[in-house]
Amino acid sequence: MRLDKLLSEMGKASRSEAGKLIRAGKVTVNGTSPKKPDFKVDPENDVIVFLGEVLAYKKFTYIMLNKPEGYVSATEDESEKTVLDLVSDEDRKKGLFPCGRLDKNTLGLVILTNDGEGAHRVLSPKHHVSKVYRFECKLPLSDDEVKLLEGGVDIGGYFTKPCKIKMTEAQRGEITLTEGKYHQIKRMLEAVDNKITYLERISFGDILLDPRLRRGEWRYLTTTEEKLFN
Ligand code: URA
Repeated sequence: MRLDKLLSEMGKASRSEAGKLIRAGKVTVNGTSPKKPDFKVDPENDVIVFLGEVLAYKKFTYIMLNKPEGYVSATEDESEKTVLDLVSDEDRKKGLFPCGRLDKNTLGLVILTNDGEGAHRVLSPKHHVSKVYRFECKLPLSDDEVKLLEGGVDIGGYFTKPCKIKMTEAQRGEITLTEGKYHQIKRMLEAVDNKITYLERISFGDILLDPRLRRGEWRYLTTTEEKLFN
């Protein structure tokens, strides 16, 4: 891989800043400074020192974010704030994107990564990765309506796959889905003449939203959590 590309993927500098720093001899590879931005490096084996810091290379970045209301799940948007606005500049330079979408007013767990293949795998319906959402609805949900929703409902030409619902109060509960159609839970509740008034994702596969993260805060996934993407 090119040295300037590696530095920008690691979020250390933009591609052009990296080029300037390499030319200025501020980056060494195995003890020598290559001076050419396209110098080829083996990030897993070469010892690369950037402005005096030995770089610890990781192929991909995985971030857990506690999404607040009012942010769209996109990398950029002309008029709205995006979930990428909440992470550090260094991380943003790494080409992160949200692994799956939450609506603008949905809260909770969003995973940001630059692992395209891994994200594709975990989002593929084949893999049945379950996601749990805490919800509140406008009207009480009867046992019959819960059964109906669990069996699958028509959300406008699409019949939802079986899911699990655990009610904690008449208008509050947790729903576990293994798929993610556009506005799925909102449309499911509309299918039984009800309305979602609160929605928060609390897990994604084995990854649980860290209760220490306040809305808008994030942290890197642990190596155990990253296994979902392997
Ligand atoms: N279902 C919805 O309706 N919205 C979300 O954000 C996620 C699931």
